Amino acid sequence: MKIIKVKNYDEMSKIAANIIASKIILDDHCTLGLATGSTPIGTYQNLIKKYQNGDISFKNIKTINLDEYVGLNEEDTRSYRYFMNDNLFNHVDIDKSNTHVPKGMAQDMEQESERYNRLIEDLSPVSVQLLGIGENGHIGFNEPNDYFPLKTHVEKLTDSTIKANQRFFEKGEHTPEFAITMGIENIMSAQTVIILASGIKKAQAMRDSLQGKVMPNVPASILQLHKDLIVIGDEDAFSMMDI
Ligand code: PGA
Repeated sequence: MKIIKVKNYDEMSKIAANIIASKIILDDHCTLGLATGSTPIGTYQNLIKKYQNGDISFKNIKTINLDEYVGLNEEDTRSYRYFMNDNLFNHVDIDKSNTHVPKGMAQDMEQESERYNRLIEDLSPVSVQLLGIGENGHIGFNEPNDYFPLKTHVEKLTDSTIKANQRFFEKGEHTPEFAITMGIENIMSAQTVIILASGIKKAQAMRDSLQGKVMPNVPASILQLHKDLIVIGDEDAFSMMDI
């Protein structure tokens, strides 16, 4: 595991974008595994700048996202498809038909999970998988559990995740309780995994995940076993670790 400790969110975002850009430069037809949430927004902004400067092109890049809320359609501003269009895809030269997010409105979520698993296989190898981390140690929407779910599946969100994501929804509005997410084996199959963490709220999850026992109750702890894991965190996120 390679640990990169930085001062703040901006530095974290720049470094993550540099690493992803280097993957694109080495193979301009590669597949990127992408994430949503507050954490990767700065990384996407830096990638957009690199595209605007002519340093990278997404023309032949394919992307596959980790997860999506069940029950939100693609036009819903809170959906992860909308997030990706808004924060990255609409600003670069990517062919949208090469970008993939699970369909939260699929009629049959089991079939959709199977379709997504096949898609991940077709697009493999994923050159680099970008990840945030939940305050409870989740990756994608793989919540603490007594086993590691391997493949894409529907997950019931924990109260703490629903609470953490409440900020994206209106007060009193019903927030989604289920999500479709890549499983742990899907995530671990990427050639390189980058996990990003910024802020004190992530400190406990970072310590448990990187220095604790590998166990499904802390889903991100499995990343200790990945052969090319890059952890980029700021001082606050590393504040409970002795590094
Ligand atoms: P955040 O979410 O980037 O909005 O903190 C991370 C996650 O829940 O995986």
